[in-house]
Amino acid sequence: MTEQQTENNGRILVVDDYPMNRLKLSRVLQQQGHAVEQAENGQQALDMLHSEPFDVVLLDIMMPEMDGHEVLAAMKADTDLRDIPVIVISAVDEVESAVRCIEMGAEDYIPKPFNPVFLRARLNASLRRKKLRDLEQVYLQQEIMLRQSEKLATLGRLSAGMAHELNNPASAVKRGVEQLQTAFARQLKAHLLLDKLDLSREQVAQLNQLAQKAQTRATQPDNLDTMIRSDREYELEAWLEASEIAEAWTFPPDLVSMGYDTAQLEQLVAGFEKEQITAVLTWLISCFTIYTVLNEIGEGAGRMTEIVKALKTYTYLDQAPVQNVNVHEGLDNTLIMLRSKLKKGIVVHRDYCDNLPRIEAYGSELNQVWTNIIDNAVAAMNGQGEIFIRTHYTGSWITIEIEDNGPGIPPAIQTKIFDPFFTTKPPGEGTGLGLNISYNIITQKHHGQISVKSQPGQTLFQIKLPVNQEKED
Ligand SMILES: Nc1ncnc2c1ncn2[C@@H]1O[C@H](COP(=O)(O)OP(=O)(O)OP(=O)(O)O)[C@@H](O)[C@H]1O
Ligand SMILES: [Mg+2]
Repeated sequence: MTEQQTENNGRILVVDDYPMNRLKLSRVLQQQGHAVEQAENGQQALDMLHSEPFDVVLLDIMMPEMDGHEVLAAMKADTDLRDIPVIVISAVDEVESAVRCIEMGAEDYIPKPFNPVFLRARLNASLRRKKLRDLEQVYLQQEIMLRQSEKLATLGRLSAGMAHELNNPASAVKRGVEQLQTAFARQLKAHLLLDKLDLSREQVAQLNQLAQKAQTRATQPDNLDTMIRSDREYELEAWLEASEIAEAWTFPPDLVSMGYDTAQLEQLVAGFEKEQITAVLTWLISCFTIYTVLNEIGEGAGRMTEIVKALKTYTYLDQAPVQNVNVHEGLDNTLIMLRSKLKKGIVVHRDYCDNLPRIEAYGSELNQVWTNIIDNAVAAMNGQGEIFIRTHYTGSWITIEIEDNGPGIPPAIQTKIFDPFFTTKPPGEGTGLGLNISYNIITQKHHGQISVKSQPGQTLFQIKLPVNQEKED
């Protein structure tokens, strides 16, 4: 008759080369309410463990070909199997072997010949621990999923920087529009004055030439040294006053910005009557201001378009999840997205290979990987240092390298950085998921590889991606 064991029933794999032993053990376990499978050698046990789920393995140590130690070692080296508890069954004279198994990660041991009551107690304890661990895993997975959805808002984190990046050109455009209103009013006034002056044909032609010059000049940056600028302004004002030009003090700053010195100003006014000059200069300067401001507005708007475009392509908004991705574009868009973090003191060197093929990939996820790695480098270097981004193409793989010259990752933690929740940052600053998510994106979603090499002064993340993805199974 089967004993009732509702809570602690498990799926048990009995591994023993002696049929009699397997049979006896299985019968007792079944009587205790467990589902039992049998394996007659180590290799068969490993195959079964790979194909079906088990809660506990009861493992004989002495077996031909592959003994219990080897089975245990193979299980512990295998990420899929290493968490399944193993209870070794050892004869009294094998105590040393049993101890070795415990050291290798076996959870418990049961002496042979076994006592059913003893077996039940040990097995139940093991099953309870396994259930707790499973529960812990479920919670961990849920937590990772939760954080991952938060992470999908890597964008959220970037948005503070982006708002700042958009704000500068937006303010420039707004300021420009206000300046244009004043400049138009000034030009209207100058027009009215010029209309009254009865200009000759030659003078009108000369005005057109001056306007063209002002337009060209408006696109050139004014890099004058402050001292030279103030000297020139002073000279121009003195000259205009000496020539008794009305409102003389209002013109010099703009005239200097347009590149005029006294000699050129003398040449300019030579074609006009003295009473025409104030109107001509007012008109000319308003043209210059209008062209300058239009230029600034154009640049600001261009900058905003560039950011919005980068944002759109960075997220692959409105596009299918898998596309034909240009990795260089993704890297560049990521750098634009991170611009506000980088501009404080990071120099980025890009060394892109010329023949990098497009790859089938989850574009937005790849950009998250670049973001996480560059973000870590910036954090490690405290915002000051150099980042090198290189790409290569060999055979059916592309390689992306991101290197920084920061403090490096201590050897003791290099194997842990891809683990979920591993962080050296203070609470609230890092979740420890950046590299874990990157690892999953590269290895699981793209069947690629990610590795790190680090020493003080040099940390190199290398990502290899296959050019052609195998079909998802
Ligand atoms: N370039 C680097 N230089 C030095 N240490 C690094 C570098 N990249 C990662 N690390 C180390 O790896 C740890 C894990 O990185 P990971 O990106 O997974 O998490 P995090 O940056 O701490 O937090 P999160 O990215 O979730 O905000 C970091 O805390 C840091 O100690
Ligand atoms: Mg990080």
